[in-house]
Order: sequence, then C-alpha cells, then structure tokens
Amino acid sequence: MSAVAARGVDPSLSLYRLLDPEVLANPYPLFHRLRSEDPVHWDPFLHAWVVTRYADVVTVLYKFSADRTPSPEQLAAMGLEALTPIARVMVKQMLFLDAPAHTRLRGLASYAFTPRRVAILREHIQEITTRLLDEAAARGRLDVIADLGAPLPAIVTAEMLGVPTEDHEQLKNWSADFAEVLGNFQHNPDRAARMLRATEGMAEYFRERIREQKRQPREGLINALLTAEIDGDRLTEEEVVANCIITMVGGQETTTNLIGNGVLTLLRHPAELARLRADLSLIPSAVEELLRFEPPSQHTARMAPDDVELGGRRIKKRQAVIAVMAAGNRDPERFPEPDRLDLGRADNRHLSFGWGAHFCFGAPLARIEGQVALAALVKRFERIELEPGPLVWRQNLGLRGLEALPVTLGGAP
Ligand code: HEM
Repeated sequence: MSAVAARGVDPSLSLYRLLDPEVLANPYPLFHRLRSEDPVHWDPFLHAWVVTRYADVVTVLYKFSADRTPSPEQLAAMGLEALTPIARVMVKQMLFLDAPAHTRLRGLASYAFTPRRVAILREHIQEITTRLLDEAAARGRLDVIADLGAPLPAIVTAEMLGVPTEDHEQLKNWSADFAEVLGNFQHNPDRAARMLRATEGMAEYFRERIREQKRQPREGLINALLTAEIDGDRLTEEEVVANCIITMVGGQETTTNLIGNGVLTLLRHPAELARLRADLSLIPSAVEELLRFEPPSQHTARMAPDDVELGGRRIKKRQAVIAVMAAGNRDPERFPEPDRLDLGRADNRHLSFGWGAHFCFGAPLARIEGQVALAALVKRFERIELEPGPLVWRQNLGLRGLEALPVTLGGAP
C-alpha cells in the first residue's frame, strides 16, 4: 500500500486515473464520484485541489488567479529547466495573466474580433466546409477528424491571423504539439523536445510574418495586434508573438474536438440526431448542448489568491486548483437530467468556454465553425455511419478528442 493510501486517501478519486484509457474514454463516472463524494478534493498525486461542482467551478474561474506559469527558478528546482523557453512565452499569453496585465492584453487583442471580421470569416467557413465535404462525398467516406475537424479550424485560423492558408498544415502540427503543454498536467520527458521545437518554430514563424507585415500589412489578428493602441499603449513584438501562439493553439485543438466529439455524440444518440435532421433550427442549441455534454476543454487550472474556504475546505494561498468544467456541466444542481443529451435544452449556460475574465476569446468563431460543420454534414448526407473499429482517444487529458473518427456517408445528393 502506498504511503498516501495508508493515510486514508482514496486513490480511486485521483484525476491521474485519466491516464487509464478506459477512464479517458468515459471520464464522467469519475467526475460524478468526485462531485458527489468530495466536491472540493485534495488530490495528493497531483498536489492540487480538484473542484467539480458547477457553482464552485464558477467561483474558481471568477476569483482565483490565472497567473500560474512556473518561473525559471521553479522549473530548475523540479529539474525541468529545459522547459524554460516555453514558460517564457506563456508568461506573456493572456491565458496566464491576471488584471491589470490581462485586461490590457485582452483589450488590445479584441480589436481583431470585430463583428465585421467574424462575418467575413463566416462566409469563408461555409466555403471551406463545402469544399472539404465535396472531397468526402466523392470518396463516400470521411474521417471526421483528419478530413474536416482538423483542416477547417486550421484554415480558418490562418485566415484569422492573416497568414497564408497554405501554411495550415504546419500550423496544425505545431499547435498539436503545443497543446500537450496546455492540456496535460503530467510531464512527459519524451515529448518535451517536440514541444520545445514547436514553440521555437512558431515564435520564429510569427516573428517573420511580423517583419513582412510591417512592410506590407494584411488584414488579421497579427496586424490588429501590431497596430492596436489604447491611450498610447501598444504590445511589444514578443507579446504579439506569444498571443498569436495562444490564439492559434486555442483556436484549433478545441474546435477540432468540438466537431469530432459532436459528431460522435450525435451518432451515439440516433433519436436526437433524427430530431436535428427534422428541425435544423435546432443547430445553435445543439452545438451548445454538445459543448456541454462532451467539452473539448475539460478542465483548467488556477492558483488560490489567498487562504480561502471553498465547499468547507481550506485552500492555502498559491495552492493549485483544477477546475473541471466537464464535471460542472453535468451537475444536477444546475442542469436537470445532466446525463441526458437534449439538443433543444434551454437555459444552457455551460462552462465549456470558461467563465469570467478569461471566457474564451474565440467563442463566437468556434460557435460558427461548429454550427456550419454540423449543419452541412447533416443536410448533405442522409446516412452517416460509424465504421467498425475501436475509438482511440488522444492522450491529452484536458483537451478531449479522438485520434480519428471514420464514417461512411450515404444519400449525398
Ligand atoms: C470549441 C472551441 C473552443 C473551446 C471549447 C474553447 C475553450 C476555451 C476555454 C475553456 C477557455 C478559458 C480557459 C481558462 O479560463 O483557463 C478559453 C480561452 C481562450 N480561447 Fe478558446 N475555446 C475554443 C475556441 C477558440 C478559438 C476559435 C479561439 C481563437 C480564435 C480561442 C482562443 C482562446 C483564447 C485566446 C483564450 C484565452 C482568453 C483569455 O485568457 O482571456 N478559443 N477557450
């Protein structure tokens, strides 16, 4: 028996169990146990609190500190100094900053997301989806991940940034590697070199695009970030680079999984899929329900700002807290029959885009991508069938998604 088990801690409640492929394939029973047996749980294996009730997740996201990147000294103390270049980029990204630094960055970045810009992207999303589905229709089969879920957000992200869309495959590969840092709490030394290469590759790529755009501006986030000014304040070049990286990664890994997890969930609930086919006006609420039911981003982390009490437990200042949005989304105190998929669910303020100051910056774009992709698939193919074979979930514990989702298609006009 381990020392921890000997002290009366129940290892079966640890989030490290997500490393078990069976738990990863269906983490919801574990989240249910955590929420009902120990909703503010000290996980001695992760050395972090794990919070699973809806109301507590909201409190953590609203009030706790997002400033959680380890300093070079802390990394060295853990023997992880090789990761310092990644941490240097992360400390400049909005996701890891508190006010006022966060407010400044987010305010300047929001210049890129004017409704006009999002409207232009909507048209392109429609065109790209049609083209990708034309190719699938000709083949009669589709890998929902490789043929639609991955390329659609990758191309849209390139357009959003204002870089050549031909670069989308490279952007996708870097982003998948960087997502290993964002989505996981376990350190995998074998992957570290790849993450470092990706971070350095992306930083160099964006520095080069910035040099080009200083000579010849292009519409997009890079240019918006370079030129945004509030009261004479501008972003430095390294801040532009760091926030292009987070937006690029945040925009791709999650949206791929919204499409993949969304299609899988519909195929697993044929009555709800039939309901959607019969009434396509349900598409917006269907996307919200799919986001609630199978969140692409399952949990995130914060630090306690002070000694605080939450759910009757005392959390010490600067202790790490993992807020499990995927568990809060299934809290019966908030959602009636939370384990039932209801594409017409009203009052669906799920946690899948976060809450408060860090609420997803790209949510309007992600929603359009999800709505357009699902509507196009359902309208175009009367029959969508899962091909036989095991489903393999990606080894990313936070960014939940499948390696592949092959389906056969029928009934294309
Ligand atoms: C279905 C797709 C998406 C999901 C589920 C998702 C989820 C999230 C979540 C949960 C957060 C908050 C994390 C936290 O508080 O720790 C977040 C933040 C963020 N997301 Fe998304 N996201 C999606 C798509 C996008 C897209 C398309 C973009 C880019 C255009 C994007 C860019 C960002 C950025 C930059 C942040 C940081 C915001 C800040 O710190 O103020 N995301 N996202």
